[in-house]
Amino acid sequence: MPDGSVRAIRGRVLTFLRAPRGVGDTESYRYIDDGVVLARDGRTAAVGPAAELLPGLPAETAVDHYPGELIMPGFIDPHIHYPQTQVIASYGAQLLEWLEKYTFVEEQKFGDPAHAARIAEFFLDELARNGTTTAVAYCSAHPASAEALFGAAARRGVGMIAGTAIMNRNGPPGLLEPARDAITASRDLIRRWHGKGRQRYAVTPRFAITSTGEQLEAAGALLKEFPTVLMQTHLDENHDEIATVKRLFPEDASYTAVYERFGLLGPRSLMGHCIHLDETEIALMRDTKSVAVFCPTSNLFIGSGLFNYRKLAEAGVRIALATDVGGGTSYSMLRTAAEAYKVLQLQGQNLPALAAFDLMTRANAAALGLDGEIGTIAPGGFADLVVLDARATPAMAHRMEVTRDLEEELFVLMTMGDDRAVRQTYIAGQPAL
Ligand code: GUN
Ligand code: ZN
Repeated sequence: MPDGSVRAIRGRVLTFLRAPRGVGDTESYRYIDDGVVLARDGRTAAVGPAAELLPGLPAETAVDHYPGELIMPGFIDPHIHYPQTQVIASYGAQLLEWLEKYTFVEEQKFGDPAHAARIAEFFLDELARNGTTTAVAYCSAHPASAEALFGAAARRGVGMIAGTAIMNRNGPPGLLEPARDAITASRDLIRRWHGKGRQRYAVTPRFAITSTGEQLEAAGALLKEFPTVLMQTHLDENHDEIATVKRLFPEDASYTAVYERFGLLGPRSLMGHCIHLDETEIALMRDTKSVAVFCPTSNLFIGSGLFNYRKLAEAGVRIALATDVGGGTSYSMLRTAAEAYKVLQLQGQNLPALAAFDLMTRANAAALGLDGEIGTIAPGGFADLVVLDARATPAMAHRMEVTRDLEEELFVLMTMGDDRAVRQTYIAGQPAL
């Protein structure tokens, strides 16, 4: 989108270079105390110290100056349900009951294109307010729901990855009927949207319970037909879910093995939750380079369990961090990181602030295969940015009086921060708020 626009965004610039190896790993990131990100035609043209970059810019260049604030790559949310903006905060149920009682009820409303369009706009507004610049979204079973989201994202210049939920059993007729030709509908949507501007498609079999083997097989074939599309589903979230999958697919050794049999695992496969994987499933995840998506607020809220981060990381499984709204309780990746920290604490593990911010940005981009394009601030990548204020609330400002370094500041941001800490969000070099 070469529109000739040039903008300099000035502040304390922070971007990750690789996964931090623990607290104090200052080699894992680049930090510029008074830095400038120069955005041209939606991409980062240059990043460096203000003293070096500003003198070379034409006098008329717009400079957005955020003294004392942190400029980071926009957050990436690799697992979120856009038809669940009015499911979030639904009381008192665990996964299967929660799906039937609340989720499937709301999702049926997306057969109405006007409703889908309204919610898509709300959803994208809310992501921007929270500093999230790319998300991987489940749509409802209605192709019109994906159409509404991609259309709204394209108009805003925001890069979304999404797919319409593929399901053909164990759901209400209102969701199974539009999904009857779910594979054909997905293929049409891939042709219309995958690689169109910044949009990408994710083939989305909801989970093994809501598809027959035949449909999962067709979803696997679709992935082979379009090798650059992504795949998203749910895996090993809840004990009753796992028992149901065992009953539905008695010939398979495990829940993960079901997906493997149908060609649904691989380096572009995002497997939501992965809380109760056994050793053979961990090996399958590792060997296929599939991504385990950690959804802490959802796992706590629906009472699903504690994601064993250290075990999966040590086994060599790729990991991403996501909100999973509306099972998740916040659109904020900062709130999500805070809950991730607590989930690890309950298991005698830690999540250093550096690791959390790397996950929300660079590592989540890498999990989507989009490193180089998003997730870091580097020439050639999209200028998708978030500007963060660690003094956004009186309590945060008060705490910040005694922080001694960048890592402590980041930990305050992730522990106490939310949308109030987001001063601005840039999508392709343009302010979104
Ligand atoms: N498993 C199948 N569908 C869903 C969903 O919408 N949310 C969550 N958390 N788990 C699921
Ligand atoms: Zn989910």
